[in-house]
Amino acid sequence: MEHRLELKNISKSFGEVQSLKNINFHLGRNEVVGLLGDNGAGKSTLIKVITGYHQASEGEIFFGGQLATDLTVAKARKLGVETVYQERALAELQTLWRNIFLGREISNRFGFLDVNKMKEETNRLMLESMGFTSMAVNPDSAIQTFSGGEKQGVAIVRALYFDAEIIILDEPTMGLSLKETRKLLNFVREIKAAGKSAVFIDHNIFHVYSVADRVVVLDRGQVAGEFRTEDITLDDLMDKMYQIAETGSFT
Ligand SMILES: Nc1ncnc2c1ncn2[C@@H]1O[C@H](COP(=O)(O)OP(=O)(O)O)[C@@H](O)[C@H]1O
Ligand SMILES: [Mg+2]
Repeated sequence: MEHRLELKNISKSFGEVQSLKNINFHLGRNEVVGLLGDNGAGKSTLIKVITGYHQASEGEIFFGGQLATDLTVAKARKLGVETVYQERALAELQTLWRNIFLGREISNRFGFLDVNKMKEETNRLMLESMGFTSMAVNPDSAIQTFSGGEKQGVAIVRALYFDAEIIILDEPTMGLSLKETRKLLNFVREIKAAGKSAVFIDHNIFHVYSVADRVVVLDRGQVAGEFRTEDITLDDLMDKMYQIAETGSFT
């Protein structure tokens, strides 16, 4: 079966700066791939090319085996890509249910917003997917009262609910407490359990190792190494990372 996502010889330059050089990358169905690499390695640029935020200077992108030309954010979204940024743009003053359905509101057969239905769905999602039990949090709570981890959860639940096939998380644990980080990592495991795929970026190798099926290491815009987590211990992966940082490759 074709990969959920495949990049062939992707390069991206910003003027003189070549941020990505001949990247070959794929994401399988129901696979979580961790992207590792130092600051400036090109991780964010790579995911911005996948999400249509940046257009590649060279190379091809395939979704489910289909070549995507002139990819834009809107197009990528239609192809099932959702992104969870650390600074995810949730409407802080709006309620939880409004945020879940923002831009994709449910209408009734008369064309009016079906508020009850949206609140009902929000309630179900909170209990089933987000693991909320607290009676303090309900569909009418304003997002600004949520913790950082809960906000990330809302963004992920949105992605799952609206049938995103590829969920991209760029440093989602940044600024989260330990407890929130644990919850976030569980959300990523839920993405996997729901049969979806994810690209997970985190500067913390422990986080990446604990949720990824495979890790891809970027170094100065190039793929420097790739490992299945079941084939490598965390210690060995850390050794490889040091090797890559020093020499640009692990051989
Ligand atoms: N919009 C941009 N304009 C110019 N250079 C950029 C831009 N975005 C990223 N870069 C450069 O590309 C390189 C890779 O950056 P980035 O993808 O953000 O790395 P990472 O996410 O791995 O830290 C860096 O040298 C960065 O300065
Ligand atoms: Mg980055």
